[in-house]
Amino acid sequence: MITFNLPKKAARLIVLQRIELISPILTRLRKIFGRYLFANLITKYFLNSNLIGKKYFEVMTQEFLTIEKFLDVNDKNFLSIGGGIGGLELIINQKFKKNKYYFIERNYVSKKVKYGWGGMINDEGYNNLDLQKKFLMMNQMHEDQIEIYDYDKKNLPEKKFDVIISLLSLDYHYDFNIYAEYLKKVSNVNTKIIFDTIRAEYFKKIFNNVEIIKFDTNTVHKSKRVVCSQFLV
Ligand SMILES: C[S@@+](CC[C@H](N)C(=O)[O-])C[C@H]1O[C@@H](n2cnc3c(N)ncnc32)[C@H](O)[C@@H]1O
Repeated sequence: MITFNLPKKAARLIVLQRIELISPILTRLRKIFGRYLFANLITKYFLNSNLIGKKYFEVMTQEFLTIEKFLDVNDKNFLSIGGGIGGLELIINQKFKKNKYYFIERNYVSKKVKYGWGGMINDEGYNNLDLQKKFLMMNQMHEDQIEIYDYDKKNLPEKKFDVIISLLSLDYHYDFNIYAEYLKKVSNVNTKIIFDTIRAEYFKKIFNNVEIIKFDTNTVHKSKRVVCSQFLV
């Protein structure tokens, strides 16, 4: 694979999830017309799907390189929290075949996408779960490998995961504590929990092991990517 194939309408979700993928012209239109018109009009009619598929593939490949050395051939069950449409998991699947991927996501697009820190208020969503499944299957993930859960339906998967990944979602847009009790239930001493946070030091009180693997100083959030394991309490 050198690019992602996109189902119709997926390009819109991808740019809402990864705003850095829009062209400089669209960035200007977003500034001129505002976030509401950008999310509800411009992203519906003015995107080049092929280009977005290619850029998304490149960005997800780069993201994969930041976590690759923490993944192991024996890791079989992956949980993705707020993984967007799932590009990173497709790259992982390309390298480590036959894993099972569980996704927890939202099944709606917010009317006004804010990209801020909501703390315990967590109502921003930019996904469509049917489109997500279609996208995954169009890009070499087999139906048997995929389980997608709607966060708002509250029936989350209950099993021990080898790897839990949440890029630019958990503790980036909303408080880790929304998921803390759930994550304790679905992890064991070997589970690697990888996410982006604006307060890496805080997690030294929550986990036995916290390793910072990436610094993002260019973004508004100035986040760090951490790999954590073993809850302390
Ligand atoms: C900025 S996007 C990042 C998407 C993807 N991780 C990436 O790196 O491209 C944040 C994602 O989190 C999802 N989200 C928001 N609240 C969530 C929640 N409580 N549980 C799971 N996903 C959530 C949104 O729908 C959105 O797809």
